[in-house]
Amino acid sequence: MLNKVENLSEYFLAYEKSIANTDTFWERVANQFYWRKKWDKVVESDFEEAKVEWFINGKLNITENIFERNLFTHGDKPAIIWEPNDPKEANITLTYHELFDKVCEFSNVLKSHGIEKGDRVIIYMPMVPEAAIAMLACARVGAVHSVVFAGFSSSALADRIIDCEAKMVLTSDGNFRGAKSIEVKKVVDEALEKCSTIEKVIVVERTKTPVEMKAGRDLWWHEEVAKASSKNTAEEMDSEDMLFILYTSGSTGKPKGVVHTTGGYMVYSQFSFQNVFQYNSDDVYWCTADVGWITGHSYIVYGPLLSGATTVMFEGVPTYPDAGRFWQIVDKYKVNQFYTAPTAIRALQAYGLEPLEPYKLDSLKVLGTVGEPINEEAWHWYHDHVGKGKCPIVDTWWQTETGGIMISPLAGHTPTKPAYATLPLPGILPVIVDADGKELKGNGVEGNLCISKPWPSMIRTTYGDHERCKNTYFSTYKGMYFTGDGVKRDEDGYYRILGRVDDVINVSGHRMGTAEVENAINEHPKVVESAVVGYPHDIKGQGIYAYVICDMEGRTEANLKEEIRATVNKIIGPIAKPDKVQIVPGLPKTRSGKIMRRILRKVAENDTSSLGDTSTLLNPEVVDEIIKGAQ
Ligand code: PRX
Repeated sequence: MLNKVENLSEYFLAYEKSIANTDTFWERVANQFYWRKKWDKVVESDFEEAKVEWFINGKLNITENIFERNLFTHGDKPAIIWEPNDPKEANITLTYHELFDKVCEFSNVLKSHGIEKGDRVIIYMPMVPEAAIAMLACARVGAVHSVVFAGFSSSALADRIIDCEAKMVLTSDGNFRGAKSIEVKKVVDEALEKCSTIEKVIVVERTKTPVEMKAGRDLWWHEEVAKASSKNTAEEMDSEDMLFILYTSGSTGKPKGVVHTTGGYMVYSQFSFQNVFQYNSDDVYWCTADVGWITGHSYIVYGPLLSGATTVMFEGVPTYPDAGRFWQIVDKYKVNQFYTAPTAIRALQAYGLEPLEPYKLDSLKVLGTVGEPINEEAWHWYHDHVGKGKCPIVDTWWQTETGGIMISPLAGHTPTKPAYATLPLPGILPVIVDADGKELKGNGVEGNLCISKPWPSMIRTTYGDHERCKNTYFSTYKGMYFTGDGVKRDEDGYYRILGRVDDVINVSGHRMGTAEVENAINEHPKVVESAVVGYPHDIKGQGIYAYVICDMEGRTEANLKEEIRATVNKIIGPIAKPDKVQIVPGLPKTRSGKIMRRILRKVAENDTSSLGDTSTLLNPEVVDEIIKGAQ
């Protein structure tokens, strides 16, 4: 199988070679793809300037590597199996041939509406096959897609459209999620009131909810594709042409557009998929993520399809119509590799074993987790009750910025250890540093996680603001990419991710900047100041705890808390709603006016015995009041 490491000793060998001679290693991997013109040089990188280029002057189109390269060998194989929200509704299977036709048709639609190479197209869609078709059609015509998770609010959507000056939005009338139906198009209409660059909106009919179609701007997907030919020649792209922008949260208030380019992303998403999941040609693979996140990009769409895999795409939620839904789907399609988030595992664990009982789950070979640290209890539950003790768990550590999985077992080869992401993939060189940037060598060390060698799918820039990319990732520790995560390397050399060391929290595997939530809270007219921290949450991993100073006139505390939650919902979306809101008389500050988040974190964690010395604060008396009112 293409680019696949077949056993543990092969892994160690590949790893050694990849570090000793990076160029040769990746050249060999990249040679397995179809390039219209091969590269002149494998890699050039300057971490000081945050400048990285791979397969320089190579020419290709990523969709030719999914379709044209493979249609003769597996054209009739299912590419996407789509499972609807409601199990009573019919599913859809698209073979590689059928998917290719649809991608070509929609590529022609994009072109007929003036989309050209380099234009930005926003995809704000539920988990329907058209979301994947839209991404691939953009890639085929050379447009840069930016998928925005359909749970984000109109104002979050507008911010992203404005930031990347998008020309088109691809959306749906509505979205079925569990028992709910969400009016997606309405959110787009609201967002577009604030945006001036959008020329056309193309709408997939999914829920048949009545929508307003603005003449001259809005078009129906089905009407457009009915007019389009299914013959299309892919645009020739440079290896370093932008493939997509994906917005993610950081420690400042404004989400940043992480830019990934064509050649390196293609090579690494396929390579990592193939190796981590050990996919075999007749396997059925299912990742439960949403295409609105990087996991959906790399491991529902690009990685699997570049590998000629069958990838399941699920529209719904794990608990609808009941908590056995995931397991029913596993049996229905005889899923071999199943990839989900710890938060979903913990949520299902809370329902006990009964929902699992009707299902055999005997097709499963590999289980995966992603997005946040998995606690040992959830790991064992997943291993024992879902995997029946026979499926290796690949705990995959990576980020939007890394484009692909960086530290993870290779299924069936790397011995696993609960809560450990284990070992780096070939080509990935993790370095642990202390707060001063001194490298902590050897095993049995703990510190901040950096990566010291470039890898093909790494972030190239933050859209429209290269300085921000430099400052965020390449300035903290000289000559290294800084991940923002804390990590431990144990006595066996295994890596365990300890969580973020910056002001980013991880709620149900979703990344949230505390400053971003604070900015939203501060929009409420009664709010004077706020501070947001994360705290341990049984299901979500971390919950959002907001300390808020308010002008209480004319409001009860209960009213105000609800209004604050509603404000965040409106400005960012439901995923950012604080779990706890505490109205406080003041926030603990240093003499220079900086909020002492350490103290707020301790109070939120209910660990007030070790607050340390608070006497040097500007307002030490406020700490007792905060402790008294803690929830
Ligand atoms: O803190 C790490 C955590 O998720 C962050 C990246 O979030 P995002 O860019 O949204 O991508 C999530 C999906 C790749 C990381 O900085 N994280 C991701 N995977 C793991 C993890 N923490 C612990 N274990 C993991 N396996």
